[in-house]
Amino acid sequence: MENIKSYVQENKDRFISELIELLKIPSVSADSAYSQDVIDTSEAVKLSLEKAGCDKVEICETDGYPIVYGEKTIDPALPTILVYGHYDVQPADPIELWTSPPFEPVIKTTDIHPEGAIFARGACDDKGQMYMHVKAFEYMIQNNNLPCNVKFMIEGEEEVGSVNLKTFVENNTEKLKNDVILISDTGMISNQQPSITTGLRGLSYVEVEITGPNRDLHSGLYGGAVANPINILAKMIASLHDENNHITIPGFYDNVEELSLEERAEMAKAPFSLEDYKKALDLNDVYGEKGYTTNERNSIRPTLDVNGIWGGYTGEGAKTVIASKAFAKISMRLVPNQDWEQITELFTKHFISIAPAGVTVKVKPHHGGQGYVTPIDSIGYKAANMAYTETFGIPAIPVRSGGSIPIVALFEKELKSKTILMGFGLDSDAIHSPNEHFGIFNYLKGIETIPLFYKYFVELSK
Ligand code: BES
Ligand code: MN
Ligand code: MN
Repeated sequence: MENIKSYVQENKDRFISELIELLKIPSVSADSAYSQDVIDTSEAVKLSLEKAGCDKVEICETDGYPIVYGEKTIDPALPTILVYGHYDVQPADPIELWTSPPFEPVIKTTDIHPEGAIFARGACDDKGQMYMHVKAFEYMIQNNNLPCNVKFMIEGEEEVGSVNLKTFVENNTEKLKNDVILISDTGMISNQQPSITTGLRGLSYVEVEITGPNRDLHSGLYGGAVANPINILAKMIASLHDENNHITIPGFYDNVEELSLEERAEMAKAPFSLEDYKKALDLNDVYGEKGYTTNERNSIRPTLDVNGIWGGYTGEGAKTVIASKAFAKISMRLVPNQDWEQITELFTKHFISIAPAGVTVKVKPHHGGQGYVTPIDSIGYKAANMAYTETFGIPAIPVRSGGSIPIVALFEKELKSKTILMGFGLDSDAIHSPNEHFGIFNYLKGIETIPLFYKYFVELSK
């Protein structure tokens, strides 16, 4: 039987070129101009699962983009691992900031990735990380050492809120039955220090619209005498944080879990350099909620951020105008126990209440999801840690991430199983940004580590 290390060495060029083919298809779920590409990607994923050795692969149609489902059952008495990932990607814009076209993958070296990294939209989030699972599975099939049953569920709407996946999971709890859910759609501390994500933040995403006069007005003739929706919107948004950067929405913190000093001290042991952090972002200082460290601010604390704001004249030159309307998109990252629907309601009520007379306010809720925390004494966590320890030579550190994968909390609710987040990306991989990339080291290390998770999970389950 061939070991995984040598299988990866022998096949790495093919592994890389197959991923590159997948990355060439622009599966941007947010933009309907790419709808055929998203569908084509689902077909490519289906084919890859068939080739790797699934018995049954199907395209499950939804009201949106299809879910690719595949399985391999070797013995119903053995445990079943459900692998989740997503084949859709974020929009590539601003396209002019890419150093090579987002859907023409190329390998370039960086300081952090001296062995090279694949530059393309979706390289890390999540096509590259999802495809590690397909290749790890291929190895186990080829070498006759798949130790348990496996189910794959790869969706095409993660980046737009997984609305149809939610329905699919609710309607297919028997089909999706499993002992553990395995996801690679997060990151790790560094290539020298693996980590396992033990928490994800929840999310509430809303859009607001402020309307003043019924038409755009001359800012000289009317300025000073009517409410300017852009001024008002800016004021209202500014008031959502106090001088300590606490969020001012009444009730917002009611269910926030305060970590003990011991837990916070434990968290602070993870290697982190504030100097390097600032340097990587060209910042002269960090900014955030008083009383918390940078790593706490972006993981165990909830936040409120404007993601986009527009209105009025933004073209060339000047136009003296008071716009009729102003808009903003606002996201709130939530921590476990905060209910996203309740937070959306609290936001809506508060935002409407702070609007002065002279404008009207509309709040349109988008999507959301609950946060997630997972214990580190589960079989799944232990198996993951054993796998990382073997391939990296040192144990993984548990880390709560600031990102969101809202479907994870739903998995636990509907399927009653824990999710293990074995991420191989780095924060510096620029997911959602121009020049997204995924290290070749990370990609191959992921393929190496995953079969060990299977092995140890089955051993520990006995
Ligand atoms: N893979 C990311 C989430 C992620 C990245 C979690 C890195 C932890 C570390 C996922 O694709 C994502 O982008 N999620 C969205 C939420 C979704 C509802 C659009 C997010 O976090 O903004
Ligand atoms: Mn993702
Ligand atoms: Mn993403």
